[in-house]
Amino acid sequence: MASKNSAVLVSPIAEEVLTGLSSQPRRLPPKLFYDAAGSRLFDQITETPEYYPTRTERAILKKYAGAIVEQAGNNLTLVELGAGSASKTQVLIEALLRRQLRADFYPVDVSSSALQGALATLNGHFPHLRISPIVADYTHRLPHLKSLSGRKLVLFIGSTIGNFEPEEAEQFLKSVRRSLNPGDAMLIGFDLIKNADVLHAAYNDAQGITAAFNKNVLARINRELNGGFDVDAFAHVAFWNARKSRIEMHLESLYEQTVWIQDLGRSFHFTKGERIHTENSYKFNLHSIKQLLRRSGFTLEMSWTDPKGWFAETLARV
Ligand code: AVI
Repeated sequence: MASKNSAVLVSPIAEEVLTGLSSQPRRLPPKLFYDAAGSRLFDQITETPEYYPTRTERAILKKYAGAIVEQAGNNLTLVELGAGSASKTQVLIEALLRRQLRADFYPVDVSSSALQGALATLNGHFPHLRISPIVADYTHRLPHLKSLSGRKLVLFIGSTIGNFEPEEAEQFLKSVRRSLNPGDAMLIGFDLIKNADVLHAAYNDAQGITAAFNKNVLARINRELNGGFDVDAFAHVAFWNARKSRIEMHLESLYEQTVWIQDLGRSFHFTKGERIHTENSYKFNLHSIKQLLRRSGFTLEMSWTDPKGWFAETLARV
């Protein structure tokens, strides 16, 4: 018999799945991609020949790390939002420690295991780096940054900004801006608008890893909410929407079907061809970057890009 104090265990994703699958058109928020299996698949995506953003950004950071930290200013304290394993950050830390004897680094991430990994790697490499990991969902609540000593450089790399809706991106940047002091800065990675074929291929890789990543959201619902999705009954659909300047990802029902989700206590009916919208990945140009930063209270101070002009690392100043 359930005792008076026993809690009802509701998966943290239940509400978002219920709201998303009940709305028209149906949608699921992209953050649901990133359980352990989805995070592994994302890492594999970044290794595919078609997915250029990660390696392009890495090359920009490698080439310009010295220039970036020099431009950001003296006596820097690094904060990284969505740090994960902080693998791309190492070149910046190296450049920073060439300019100053010691530095503080605050990696922020929802995943404590990813932060543990970052801590282990960075501690071994950089004895003069003081690392204070913060486990937090920075999209809900930002850690207290105002009181940290030194001039803050907040890293938001990886083109994650493109997965926010334009209004969300502005609100998010405004909230970071409010937690900073005049003279602090943000380094933001923006994926840029380019040839539609290149964009299309990046989200439709030949090995089908992006398809598996997209479908993993259904597999996750099966695992965490006792769902009855047949993942093979949905097709991965990703295309460039030039008018909205974004890649859209959807899951398309291959036939008419009804899916029961035990923990939500209800079923969902899909017609043939009906889609669940799972992700937008916005692409930018210098003009749209400038506008977004200006609306959020930052000024675009400097931008570094690759020879093809596919990706931009942008320093935004408070
Ligand atoms: C994490 N984010 C920047 C990726 C992107 O390109 O929008 C997520 C992704 N979706 C499909 N492939 C990669």
